Amino acid sequence: MEKRGQWSSRFTFILAAIGSAVGLGNAWRFPGLAAKHGGGTFLLVYLAAMIIMGIPLLMMEIAIARKFRKGAIESMRGIGKRWEPIGWAATSNAFVIVCYYSVVFAWVILMFINSWQFAGMTGDNEAASGLFFELTQTTGTVEGYGIPGIVLLCLIVAWGLIFFCIRNGAQSVGKVVKFTVFAPVVLLLIMAVKGCTMPGAMDGLSILFVPDASAFSDPSLWVDAIGQVFYSLSIMMAIMFAYGSYVGDDANVAGDAVIIAFSDMAISVLSGVVMFSTMGGTGMLDSITDSGVATAFIVYPQAIVNLTEIGWLNAVFGAIFYLMLITLAIDSAFSIVEGISAAISDKFQLKPKTVTIAVCAISGLISLLFVTQAGLGWLDIVDNWTNQINLIVIGVLECVAIGWTFSLRKVLAEINRNTKKFKAPYWWFAASVKVISPMLLSALFIWNMIVLFGKNGGSYGDYPIWAQIAAGWVVSGLVFISGFIAKLIVNKKKKDGFVEDEVVWKD
Ligand code: PHE
Repeated sequence: MEKRGQWSSRFTFILAAIGSAVGLGNAWRFPGLAAKHGGGTFLLVYLAAMIIMGIPLLMMEIAIARKFRKGAIESMRGIGKRWEPIGWAATSNAFVIVCYYSVVFAWVILMFINSWQFAGMTGDNEAASGLFFELTQTTGTVEGYGIPGIVLLCLIVAWGLIFFCIRNGAQSVGKVVKFTVFAPVVLLLIMAVKGCTMPGAMDGLSILFVPDASAFSDPSLWVDAIGQVFYSLSIMMAIMFAYGSYVGDDANVAGDAVIIAFSDMAISVLSGVVMFSTMGGTGMLDSITDSGVATAFIVYPQAIVNLTEIGWLNAVFGAIFYLMLITLAIDSAFSIVEGISAAISDKFQLKPKTVTIAVCAISGLISLLFVTQAGLGWLDIVDNWTNQINLIVIGVLECVAIGWTFSLRKVLAEINRNTKKFKAPYWWFAASVKVISPMLLSALFIWNMIVLFGKNGGSYGDYPIWAQIAAGWVVSGLVFISGFIAKLIVNKKKKDGFVEDEVVWKD
C-alpha cells in the first residue's frame, strides 16, 4: 500500500475545504435567497442554521475521517458495519452531482470565452439574455439530441482541468487551491467596487442588509436557509470525509471547521454585495432570482451590458464575472471527484490515481447527456432530486447512525484533540447531531414532499412524468441501493481472496 497522502500544512487543508465549500452556490443562490427572504432576515437565520447544524456536522465528518484515515464508505463502516450503505449513498449521490456540476462548469467556461460578444450589445437586454441559449442551443425541455461543438469542447476542457487538479490527490489539490480560493475573492472585490460606485447601489445594499421582520413568519425562510447551509458546506457528499482523512494529527479540527464555515459565509455575503449593488446600479433589482442558472446566464448578462456606455469595458466586466465563476466552481468540482475516488479506493484498496481516472472517464461520459440540447432540462430534474431529496435523507441517516449508535464523546474528543482556547462543548455537539439536525432535516424533507405531492400533484416542473421517474426517482433509488449492490460485489471478491480492511477507532 502507498502511504496515505496528507496536506502539506494546516493552511492548505483549510484552503482546500473552503475551496470546496465556496462554489457556484455562494455566487448565484445565496443572493437570490436573501432577496426572497427579506435580506438581513435571511442572513440571521442562515447564521443560526450554520451554528446549530452546519458547523457541528462539518466538524464531525472531518474528525471521524481523520481518526479512521478513510473516505466516506470505510469511515461509515468504521462507525458500524451496517452503516456502510450510508457511505455508499453519499458517494453515489456525489457521483450523480459531479456528472452535471461539471457541465455547469463547462457552461461557465463557454460564457467566459464568449464574453467579448457583450462588447457589441451595449444596452441590448434581449441580445444579452439570449446569448446563453444561442450558444448552448438548449430547448429547456427533455427533447433534443444535438451537442454544439463548442460546448463539447468546453466540457472536455472542464474535465481536463478537473483531472489535472486532483491527479495526485491531496498533494496536487494543495497547490491548486492556493490560487483558486483567492482568485475569486479578488475578482469579487473588483466587481464590488464597480457595483458600489454606481448610483442606485445603496438601494440594493439596503435590501441585502436591513432585516425585514415580516419575513420571519414565512416557514420557507427556514427551509431555504437550512438547505443552503447544508449544500454550501459540502457535507454529506463524501467530500469532507475524504479531505478530513488527509488532515494531520496535530490539526485543530474544531477551530478549522469554524474558520471554514465563516469564510464560506463571508464569501456568500460578498457575492451578495456584488449582486445587489450591481442590480441596484442597473435598475434590475426586481430580476434577482434564486434560480442559479437563470441568475448567471440570463439575468446577469443583462446587467453586464448596462454597466457602462462603453462596449469593450462591459465585455471586460463580463469576462471578470465568468472568470470568477470558473475559479469558484473548479475547486468544488474536483472536490466531489476526490470524495468519490477516495471512498472507492479505500474500500477496494485500489490505487487512488487509477480510481480517479476511472471516475473522471465514466462521469465524463455521462455528463454528455447534459450538454445536449435537452441538457438543461435533465440537469434541472437531476439537480432537484439529488439536492432536495437524496442529500437530505443521507443527512438524516448519517446523523442518526453516528449520533445514536456511536459514542459522540469519542468523536468530540477527536474534534477537540488539539484545541486550546475554543473547545466545542458536548451539549451543543450532541444536541445538534442527535436531535436538532435530524429533526430539522426530516422537517425539510417532509416540507419538500408536501410541495412536490401536495402543491404540485407529484410533478416537478413541466417535464413529462417518464423523465421525472427516470432521472429523478430511479436515480434516487439507485443511490440508496448502491451500498447493497456493492455488498454483493464485495462478497464475490471475498471468495476470490479479497480481505476487507479493519476499520477501528483506536483510543
Ligand atoms: N458547496 C458548493 C457550492 O456552494 C457546492 C458543491 C456541490 C460543492 C457539490 C461540491 C460538490 O456551490
